[in-house]
Amino acid sequence: MQEAFAVISGAVQSNSATDLDLISQVAKDRYASYKTAHHEWINAVESSEYRSALERIRHHSDILEAIKVRFPDSQVTNVTEADEIYWAVSPKGAVGSDRSLVDCHYDSPFAWAPTGGAIFYRVIIACNENNTVTTVFPAEDKRVKMTQRDFHGLDYNKDWHCVEGSIPEGRYRVLLKMHYLIVPNGSEVWAPFVRWINVLWTVLSRETMRMSADPQNIFESFVAGLVTVCRVFFNYFYWFFASFVILVMICYGLVNRSSVLLSGRKR
Ligand SMILES: [Fe+2]
Repeated sequence: MQEAFAVISGAVQSNSATDLDLISQVAKDRYASYKTAHHEWINAVESSEYRSALERIRHHSDILEAIKVRFPDSQVTNVTEADEIYWAVSPKGAVGSDRSLVDCHYDSPFAWAPTGGAIFYRVIIACNENNTVTTVFPAEDKRVKMTQRDFHGLDYNKDWHCVEGSIPEGRYRVLLKMHYLIVPNGSEVWAPFVRWINVLWTVLSRETMRMSADPQNIFESFVAGLVTVCRVFFNYFYWFFASFVILVMICYGLVNRSSVLLSGRKR
């Protein structure tokens, strides 16, 4: 089992700056009209120099090596079907479903699921300067700012984090969200399941986030609302579970006490 805090920090080599400059520029050209957060699946990007730069970053040896150092005796593979370009929202002004990207949260709700120690891992890479926004990992009392080439990795299901700060008027923030499956030697049988549920969640949550930003009909409004409720429930799963157990214990105690009192009166 892989336990303990899973966050890693690093930076890809300076020769990647050209690729990151290109990604930032193309993202700005394509997404600057969005006033809310916008995600683009990398696998949906057409063949181009932009796509080639994205491919080089997602397979970058500095990222793969950093993961392998943190998780020795494991196999690390790309999960490209979940990779995205992220045109970031300013934490200060985020509204609606965009709040779920900045308020404290887990990225995925399956911390309780058995995985045989396999970890679905997200690495965030900064494509441009990001010194006005801070990512906070409260469990480690860790606060990180990112500048171009910096990356941070986290357990998609178990690392609670929040985003603070703001993006000043006229500036923008482009990040890449890359995904990797970390499977300890001997746990290979768990890999397809862990990959499947997390990719499914990534696609489902992204599409419903799009729906809630601009619902086209009553069904899309309903689905978006349902997923928002589920996200809150899973984010606070342990709190709800503990509350439920305490409530059951109180009810059990009250029922027991009243039956003792009633049987006493009958005598
Ligand atoms: Fe997140």
